[in-house]
This record gives sequence, structure tokens and C-alpha cells, in this order.
Amino acid sequence: MYSEKVMDHFNNPRNVGEIENASGVGTVGNAKCGDIMRMYLDIDDNGIIQDCKFKTFGCGAAVATSSMATELVKGKTVQEALQVTNKAVMEALDGLPPVKVHCSLLAEEAIHAALWDYAEKHNIKIEGLEKPVNDISEKEEDVEEDY
Ligand code: FES
Repeated sequence: MYSEKVMDHFNNPRNVGEIENASGVGTVGNAKCGDIMRMYLDIDDNGIIQDCKFKTFGCGAAVATSSMATELVKGKTVQEALQVTNKAVMEALDGLPPVKVHCSLLAEEAIHAALWDYAEKHNIKIEGLEKPVNDISEKEEDVEEDY
């Protein structure tokens, strides 16, 4: 049911933890399943993501997708990090079962929430970044129709 990569990231999640004095922190949840994810970004003066850590109170797919998402955004610019969509995370994990697709949205939205926090703190605007939602289940229905 799950790919080897999903199992690997679930059993050995990368970048679990917190970043003290993070440049941006984002927390999102899904009211339907009750899962919560928090993402921390350390962004340098050139707008490069030097470090990324996460904490997830959620299902196995949420753990695996957040772990992969942190790996994908590290070393990227803020703009490039916006390309790390839930689809990109799922592809990097060799897919997720359809009922678990919504879990990958948490990872994408948590990154966006952390970037939003960073932009607000630094008084900048990140092109293409929309204000994130706190409860991802509001967005879910639109997404699930695509799969
Ligand atoms: Fe809620 Fe996976 S079941 S994020």
C-alpha cells in the first residue's frame, strides 16, 4: 500500500524538531482528522533556506510527507520553495494511496505558513504566496476532485 520511500520517511523521519529563533514558523491543522503540523524555517540574508525542521502530530503519511518536504526545501530559495507542492512531495515519495493524498497538503500548507510568517516578520512580499489557511480541510475538497 505504501511505497518503500514512504515507509523509510515514516520510520526514520528527517529533520524532526524545532529551530530556535526560526526565521519563519507555520502551523496548520486538519479539523477533519485532527492532525497538526508545525514547520520551522531558517532563512539566511540571501533568502536561502539553510535549515528546516518539523513537528507533526499526525498520521504516518503526514510524518512521511513532512519529512520529505523538509528535505526538498533545504538549500532552496524562498521562491523555489514555493514549487514544493504536495504533488512534488508525493512524487518524491513515489506516490501515496488516494485516501492519503490530503495528508500531503498539510506539508505544503505548513511550508507556506512558515514562509508567510517569514515574509511578515521581514516586511516583504513573496511573489505567488497566498495567505495560508489554519485548517486545511477547507481546501481539501477542491484538491480531492483532481485525483
Ligand atoms: Fe490527517 Fe493524514 S489522516 S493528515
